[in-house]
Amino acid sequence: MNALAGFPDGFEIGVSTAAYQIEGAVAEDGRGPSVWDTFAHTPGRVKNGDTGDVACDHYHRWPEDVALMADLGVDAYRFSIAWPRVQPTGSGAPNAAGLDFYERLVDALLQRGIAPLPTLFHWDLPQALEDQGGWLSRSTAERFAEYAGLVADRLGDRVHRWITLNEPVVHMAEGYAWGGGAPGKSLMFGALPVAHHQLLGHGLATTVLRERGATEVMITNNCSPVLPATDDEADVMAAAVYDSFHNRLFNDPILLGTYPEMLGEFLGDLIRDGDLATIHTPLDALGINYYNPTRIAAAAADADLPFDPRPIEGVPTTAFGWPVVPGGLRDLLVGLKDTYGDALPPVYITENGCSTPDGTDDTFRIDYLRGHLDALRGAIEAGVDVRGYYIWSLMDNFEWREGYSQRFGLVRMDFETQQRTPKESYHWLRSALAAR
Ligand code: BGC
Repeated sequence: MNALAGFPDGFEIGVSTAAYQIEGAVAEDGRGPSVWDTFAHTPGRVKNGDTGDVACDHYHRWPEDVALMADLGVDAYRFSIAWPRVQPTGSGAPNAAGLDFYERLVDALLQRGIAPLPTLFHWDLPQALEDQGGWLSRSTAERFAEYAGLVADRLGDRVHRWITLNEPVVHMAEGYAWGGGAPGKSLMFGALPVAHHQLLGHGLATTVLRERGATEVMITNNCSPVLPATDDEADVMAAAVYDSFHNRLFNDPILLGTYPEMLGEFLGDLIRDGDLATIHTPLDALGINYYNPTRIAAAAADADLPFDPRPIEGVPTTAFGWPVVPGGLRDLLVGLKDTYGDALPPVYITENGCSTPDGTDDTFRIDYLRGHLDALRGAIEAGVDVRGYYIWSLMDNFEWREGYSQRFGLVRMDFETQQRTPKESYHWLRSALAAR
């Protein structure tokens, strides 16, 4: 059966990328440094010392990448806009050359009938803002709304759909709590202001985008269904705590206008009058990135954290070692519907995909995608309003602290020659799209 059969009319199939992971050209046309430039150039931070200096050289080779998408036949392309290209120091007048790049890209997509879905922030904060406190500082939320306005002033006549932030939970956790990603801070619970300030930035930017004609504003959250390791009460409690940190900390304030009760005490002093109303500004849709469920056990009494992640056994794993559990996508979506009811807006899966070893045949990726599309169809049949599915990623790219070692692409990249070679999964998806 065609993997794309049985989805509602107008259901969108797209591919996703992010600026720092593909663009390269980090010092061209006035782009300022971002936290990821600094982090990747700090010895020992990224595997093999890899950086995004060149990446897929998409900044120069974008016509080829648009042609690949057009030939693939996707409906939409989710990419991110690099804040440091638009505002090299994170505030002040826009850098016209940076906006020109995204304008050329958007025009080329529209000419090919591919709907652009830009994300305004995919972790590449201008370094100058980090030097003033980054997302630990409330003013970054205001700067973000200002930047969103500058982008929409230029592109808002052509782009009506926007994603504000990508995965604020991962940026908080990796960037500020454990230090595995830029800006590389290890503040543990001290990272929580990063959640509130990103959410505030999202709310402020939503209004700014709407004032400039946006008709569909969303945020992309990384959501993971949480499984207690056993039925033991302590494990069930620990799983609930993890769920509050990973999922509810970001979904509750946006969809309900409240923070999960157990986190309130950590956030108390940061929240000013009106903040929750701003964060709760109605959303047109919710973007969800799904990779895998998380299995949680109670932590040892002297552990740093109140939960202990455990492996999920008995399922295949990706090259990254991530468990492949397609049914988790259906469970996640049905669970969100149960929890939020009518407060859950239409959903887009804005990322889903897997890394596989280079040089192997590509049936693993095809099976992965087919399995998740089946699960998605199941969620739709169960009554969840899902409007689209975006594959991570169009092409192999800079996989953050893993450098170029994890390959998520439908298109293989030779990072020496910049040659792009469609994989079997690309051809498989192309046939499925053509046969819709
Ligand atoms: C991120 C992507 C990343 C992917 C695979 C998501 O968390 O948004 O940037 O490459 O996962 O790790």
